[in-house]
Amino acid sequence: MVVAPIKTVNPEKILILGANGMLGHALRKVFPGALLRGHELDITDEEAVYACISDLAPEVVINAAAYTDVDGCEDHVGIASAVNGEGPGYIARACRDAGAVLVHYSTDYVFDGSRQAYVESDPPNPINAYGRSKLLGEQRIIQGMENYRIIRTSWLFGEHGKNFVDTLRDLSTRMDQVKVVHDQFGKPTYTVDLAEKTLDLILCDPGIYHITNDGSCSWFEFAESFIGNAVPCSSAEFPRKAVRPKYSVLNTTKTTPLRHWREALNDYLTGDMI
Ligand SMILES: NC(=O)c1ccc[n+]([C@@H]2O[C@H](COP(=O)([O-])OP(=O)(O)OC[C@H]3O[C@@H](n4cnc5c(N)ncnc54)[C@H](OP(=O)(O)O)[C@@H]3O)[C@@H](O)[C@H]2O)c1
Repeated sequence: MVVAPIKTVNPEKILILGANGMLGHALRKVFPGALLRGHELDITDEEAVYACISDLAPEVVINAAAYTDVDGCEDHVGIASAVNGEGPGYIARACRDAGAVLVHYSTDYVFDGSRQAYVESDPPNPINAYGRSKLLGEQRIIQGMENYRIIRTSWLFGEHGKNFVDTLRDLSTRMDQVKVVHDQFGKPTYTVDLAEKTLDLILCDPGIYHITNDGSCSWFEFAESFIGNAVPCSSAEFPRKAVRPKYSVLNTTKTTPLRHWREALNDYLTGDMI
């Protein structure tokens, strides 16, 4: 089946799932008037998902719902698989039957970190439970429908969420020194920039896209750009339940890149929102 590209988007025909999450809040700003569902629509409930999408008959469904606790996924593999893996498959099949485009977010953690950067066509090989569950979600969507946009992104920061920037700013006021790992590299991404770019992608061809702010850094370099008492440490000194990829730098090859993360961070810190 050839999928016809959409030319314009009527906000009232957009349904945002996971609308109360960090990215969900940014999407609400970019798509005022969109239909919203938070966790009250459990995306692991196949019947409820199907009923919601067939009743509302949206033209576009944007799925920002996910189980995002990377360490928690190691202990709760079943929940991770249901929310991040099977749930997106249910959404995809309901979108296919309703004739809706599905926009879904995936992660840099589908890669193993053995290369210094990844393009959209590179083979995924997740090394933790969160990454495996998100890859399953990508696969279920691709199996279930054709008119999807899977957006892999990384290191999100923004309002209304637990994120690295807010956590570190809080810690820096309470501790003399804040240890931050210097040997994991990625691309910080502002939720507002990602939400704005989502609008462009709805109008693009189906497929997988890498969308992040421009510029890569280590977590330490990121931290020292906004707190004065960050000190570098190695991942070995800071063991976590879930192993993280050393490099999870996503390169964007299919669309124009976003602005540099330093500029985006400045807007976030100064409250210069859309
Ligand atoms: N945060 C990052 O650094 C990052 C990096 C790469 C990719 N991503 C991806 O970007 C997307 C958005 O992430 P985010 O940071 O905005 O996540 P978030 O703040 O954790 O928001 C996720 C939302 O999904 C909801 N949710 C969880 N389980 C659900 C279920 N079974 N049914 C319906 N809703 C459910 C959560 O509700 P409750 O709070 O009530 O559980 C929460 O409101 C996700 O796909 C994530 O995998 C995030």
